Amino acid sequence: MTQNLASLPPCPREFNQETFETQLLKVIAAIKRNIPRIGDRQPMWGTPDLKWQYCQEWNWVSGFWPGQLWLAHKVTSEQVFKNAARLQNNYMKNTLALRMAHDHDLGFVFSLSCVADYKLTGNTKAREMALTAADSLLGRFRRGGKYFVAWNEDMEVTPGNVTGRVIIDSLQNMALMFWASEETGNPVYRECAIGHADTLSKTVVREDYTVYHTFNFDPFTQQPIGGENFQGYADESCWSRGMAWALHGYAQIYEYSKEDRHLNIAKNIARVVCHHLEHDPVPVWDYRLPENETPYRDSSAGSCSAAGLFLIAKHCDNPDEAAHFRKWGQYLLGGLIERCDLSDNPNAWGLLDEGASFVHRGRNRNMLPYGDYYYVEALMRACGYQKFFW
Ligand code: GLY
Repeated sequence: MTQNLASLPPCPREFNQETFETQLLKVIAAIKRNIPRIGDRQPMWGTPDLKWQYCQEWNWVSGFWPGQLWLAHKVTSEQVFKNAARLQNNYMKNTLALRMAHDHDLGFVFSLSCVADYKLTGNTKAREMALTAADSLLGRFRRGGKYFVAWNEDMEVTPGNVTGRVIIDSLQNMALMFWASEETGNPVYRECAIGHADTLSKTVVREDYTVYHTFNFDPFTQQPIGGENFQGYADESCWSRGMAWALHGYAQIYEYSKEDRHLNIAKNIARVVCHHLEHDPVPVWDYRLPENETPYRDSSAGSCSAAGLFLIAKHCDNPDEAAHFRKWGQYLLGGLIERCDLSDNPNAWGLLDEGASFVHRGRNRNMLPYGDYYYVEALMRACGYQKFFW
């Protein structure tokens, strides 16, 4: 038994494989039902009547609906999903033109829209758009500190320092960099992505494998200053979606870097997450929430963590260890199916209830397009799919 296997707790409950196969089909039917409702818009967060509020120009979440459509196309090969996903290309074109608004989330947006289109259909225009986005993202790399700057001044969460700030979510954006290196033969994108992941592992990731949401560097000297936690409960708490970004993020980085240190970080973060979910598979929005606070759930942390656990399992050499991570992925996913799934509700325009996008801003129980996207990804991973758009 490896050290990581020993430290991952026993999985509290097992699910039958058929559960996930049946559920994937139901979810794909729900996505199809929602195509005419959503049209060429980009869901931002759910409203209490289970419809959507939509993105205006540039929004980090705009890629998650096309991402679901491309996943559904991958599973079914049905043209209806491809056509609906292509309805989003105009928004993506406008996003590219809005260069001054670009931030580090270009990877979320373009991996799940244009890279997906190119990988599935060979669309060369989509490839060009994704490479343009990759170049814009590369421009945010700070060579002194070896990190990608996260935000711009106008973000709703903007704290004082934006020019020397990283956030944990950014690991998900690095796949666009790795892809750009593969496509162009230019190693710089890849080198910067690995540099960024290593910088975060020494700053945003704490010694106990919990994470800050964000970390500040002095923008002039590039020296590390310290961590903060905007979307979690408090600076030293443990925001569950941040943990999910990190868990899935380092597994994803490993998929490209093949550096053991990245997989080990993912496994250690997964161990912490699993310990917090032993009694309830749907994460509370912050794993260190004081008992007197309302324990809102965050299904998006659950779906992203589940997808990440399957991704870790894919890369475990030891079959027992792989099976153990897989069982945990199934346990989290099973919890979401039983507790949060909306695919049987004909009035729901999304897939999962109980997402907590930003509890301090009162957004504590919504459908979320990223929760939905990772739910589909996790279901597909549970059903044996290995290749995604990241
Ligand atoms: N990327 C921002 C969030 O996770 O809400």
